[in-house]
Amino acid sequence: MWKTNLKVLAIALLVVGFYTTVAHIIPQLQSEVPEALALGSGVTPEALVAAGEKIYNGAGGCTACHGLGTRAPNLITDYKGQGAVGARCGTRKPGMACKAYLYESLTQPQAYIVQGFDPIMPDMRKQLSDDQIWAAVAFLESQGGEVDVTGEDIAKSAPAKGAAPAPTGPAMTATLDPVALYSEKGCIGCHQMDGKGGAVGPSWDHIGSRRSAASIRRKIIDPKSDTTKGFEKFAGMMPATFGQMLTAAQLEALVTFLANKK
Ligand code: HEC
Ligand code: HEC
Repeated sequence: MWKTNLKVLAIALLVVGFYTTVAHIIPQLQSEVPEALALGSGVTPEALVAAGEKIYNGAGGCTACHGLGTRAPNLITDYKGQGAVGARCGTRKPGMACKAYLYESLTQPQAYIVQGFDPIMPDMRKQLSDDQIWAAVAFLESQGGEVDVTGEDIAKSAPAKGAAPAPTGPAMTATLDPVALYSEKGCIGCHQMDGKGGAVGPSWDHIGSRRSAASIRRKIIDPKSDTTKGFEKFAGMMPATFGQMLTAAQLEALVTFLANKK
């Protein structure tokens, strides 16, 4: 009998130890979250491009699709002899300048679909704040073109005074409501739930009957750790940045919510 009790105690300690470790690891990742950009009217093109490059390679998750060859057109290298994106952006839509086309590509990706590709690019407003989007546009322009994004563009597209404050980017809110996190962190761009959302990744309905809490947690922190059966074609597409975009408490709220969707 005492043997069984000891076993139970040992397992309990292991479990507690595991969660304590997880809780300690995640806040450390948190410190790597970029500061809110707060790019004011006096911002220089160089500062915008530098901020945009970080978004492109990091929080924007762009490289999950762009640069791998077949899933999305190359942006920072030539695509089919049309040049890098900064060189071809002004020729995509007649009468539409490069800057306007790029902003539209990120905020209404379905408005123009590059020939030969599926309309899978998420609306980046779900993941990025408006100044982050403008910074990404400046970075894309710098790839073979001329940067003409200014602080004025950022100010113009910001909500009018007196309106609700703009969302300050993915890292900023502290909500523990999993449904709010689903849209705020951009999961909604790729995962369906209750008939809403994009159909790129698996639907979240009944996900708890396929995966344990531990497996869901691992998938969110390290999406490359496994691939959902039937979605091999989309392997590597889920951004690997959520471990940094979610606080430990937010991650646990999402994991518990999903694990209970039987
Ligand atoms: C889930 C995959 C995916 C992600 C993530 C993604 N894109 Fe795309 N993107 C695409 C696909 C596919 C296309 C081509 C079809 C279309 O036009 O929508 C595209 C098109 C574009 C275009 C137009 C290219 C052209 O030649 O006209 C731009 C610009 C662009 N993406 C920028 C970005 C940036 C910047 C990010 C990150 C902030 C990003 N994308 C994230 C899939 C993605
Ligand atoms: C750009 C698209 C994209 C975004 C955004 C995205 N995912 Fe995914 N996710 C996928 C794809 C594609 C798969 C299936 C392929 C794979 O296993 O990698 C997947 C798989 C999953 C799975 C496993 C599902 C199953 O049924 O086995 C979980 C859990 C998950 N994602 C959670 C999240 C969470 C939480 C968020 C938001 C914080 C999120 N995802 C955002 C594309 C995305």
